[in-house]
Amino acid sequence: MKPCIALTKGRLEKQFLDFFKSLSYDVDPLVNKGRKLRVETDDFQFVFAKGVDVTTYVEHGIADLGIVGEDILAEFQPDVYNLFPLPFGQCRMALATEEGKVWPERKRRIASKYTNITKEFFKQKGESVEIFKLEGSVELAPILGLADGIVDIVETGNTLKENGLVIKEEFFEFSARCIANRSSLKIKRDELATVIESFRRGVVVK
Ligand code: PRP
Ligand code: MG
Repeated sequence: MKPCIALTKGRLEKQFLDFFKSLSYDVDPLVNKGRKLRVETDDFQFVFAKGVDVTTYVEHGIADLGIVGEDILAEFQPDVYNLFPLPFGQCRMALATEEGKVWPERKRRIASKYTNITKEFFKQKGESVEIFKLEGSVELAPILGLADGIVDIVETGNTLKENGLVIKEEFFEFSARCIANRSSLKIKRDELATVIESFRRGVVVK
């Protein structure tokens, strides 16, 4: 059976395909997949899922390898091998607030998809905050008055800018990572060696 790679859907997907193509792999079936979530190429089976679900499939050995943002690994700490960084998906984790708004002295309210990262960030500061878990579009929270600030990923900075928010503090720079199932690495060592090496080499070449 061909090795299975779980790929994070959305913005990492496009960047991965460019990277994969640059390594001379066959990407046509992936580019032309339409709404299919499972696609086979000459060498691999691919499954497309949300970042956190990529880690679940890899952790449970459904997928041998996964391509996922390090934000997801930091937030959910899945039991997988975190092999190496990939040369795409560069982002920063930041605390952001509304431009021109005074940072209040009372207990601050922070909205985020990343509640564990947020908790840890403020714990390191020795500051107690109230955290609101949102599932997306967290930039809305300060605008609508739910929170004083947000903790979220910033890539180009456009979403913050277009919503009148500014970075108050950046605290974690990361990229996409290649992860592996712990037993696949042992059992399928030979089948996975070439692709792992080419992903790793891709990193070195950049
Ligand atoms: C992500 C992130 C920021 C934005 C950062 O949201 O949560 O909102 O991208 O990118 P930028 O700095 O290039 O603007 P995404 O669009 O993935 O959607 P979601 O927050 O609703 O999950
Ligand atoms: Mg967002």
